Amino acid sequence: MKKFATVLLAVAMVFAVATNLTAAPKKGAIKIGLSFSDFATERWPQEAALMTKLAFAKGVQVISQVANHDAKLQNDQIDNMVLQGVNVLIIIAEDGDSVATAAAAAHDAGVAVIAYDRLIKTPKIDAYISFDNREVGRAQGRGVTAVVGKGNFVMLGGSPTDNNAILFRQGQMDVVQPLVDKGAVKIVADQWVDNWDQANALKIMENILTAQNNKVDAVVASNDGTALGALQALKAQGLAGKVPISGQDATAAGCKSIVEGELTMTVFKDIRKLTPIAIDMAIQMANKQKVSGLKMYTLADLTTVKTMKGSVPCMFLPVVQVDKNNVYDEVIKSGFQSYDEVYRDIPADQRPPRP
Ligand code: GAL
Repeated sequence: MKKFATVLLAVAMVFAVATNLTAAPKKGAIKIGLSFSDFATERWPQEAALMTKLAFAKGVQVISQVANHDAKLQNDQIDNMVLQGVNVLIIIAEDGDSVATAAAAAHDAGVAVIAYDRLIKTPKIDAYISFDNREVGRAQGRGVTAVVGKGNFVMLGGSPTDNNAILFRQGQMDVVQPLVDKGAVKIVADQWVDNWDQANALKIMENILTAQNNKVDAVVASNDGTALGALQALKAQGLAGKVPISGQDATAAGCKSIVEGELTMTVFKDIRKLTPIAIDMAIQMANKQKVSGLKMYTLADLTTVKTMKGSVPCMFLPVVQVDKNNVYDEVIKSGFQSYDEVYRDIPADQRPPRP
């Protein structure tokens, strides 16, 4: 995936600069609008490139926009893509509440809307496709508590405007709360990292360590980016590799940290499976064909807010819990991350064989 990912990244960078890229227009071709929250997390530019490539291969036009964590800008970009005549929108929401306005307006204007990976909180969307997000959180909880089952725990949530962050926390607490209830675990800090920003996570973790006099036994972090930020703070106190910490996304840097014994675990979500589903679904919707494999979920269940009204057709892909024991089989052998990059700083005689 690495060489491929570099190419993808290069392609995606063009989006970041141009923020608007259209395929060679074909008369009557389907037009898909891709709306990204940001390109700061490794997966998003990769998914932009993967989806664009898949769409082009099917003769479908793509317009891609990136909102750089600006929820208002994302709404403007969505309105603009509707004006440009897209048939379908695939939206990675910066803010699941605010984006509902633009998504519902697009839906009312006859544009099919797919909430991609992150929920858009309105029943006026045509599908929500993602991974099993609560299970992501459970895997993180299991990964950390398998190493340390008692003591002072730090809960480091993701962006509070991302519904996934809420679901990850729900899953994490499925595992951690019973330990709190029996008095084994004390949650000494419970924080959310705006924008999933690594530098934010570093600052938050520094402050927690200071406030706790370094008496932290485990960190349940919600993705690789924020975990690696927190790890920098742990490292500065000589605690990296001693205090277990969870991640998510099986990023190159995250997997490298796992094989080096610092990040305890990550959650592998195969975006190579979600992207073709999104594009095929978008094409089916544009052609007004029936889409199979979707199941209705209430927004109340999806958001954990009981008063939310309405339901949404959904599809969730499974996830894989990854640590030093299976990172090679799951992530390297499957070509998701490159052997050379992940084992770069491991002496040659201590590496597994090249796949
Ligand atoms: C979440 C997503 C994660 C992670 C995070 C930061 O919504 O599910 O995979 O990438 O955003 O962008």
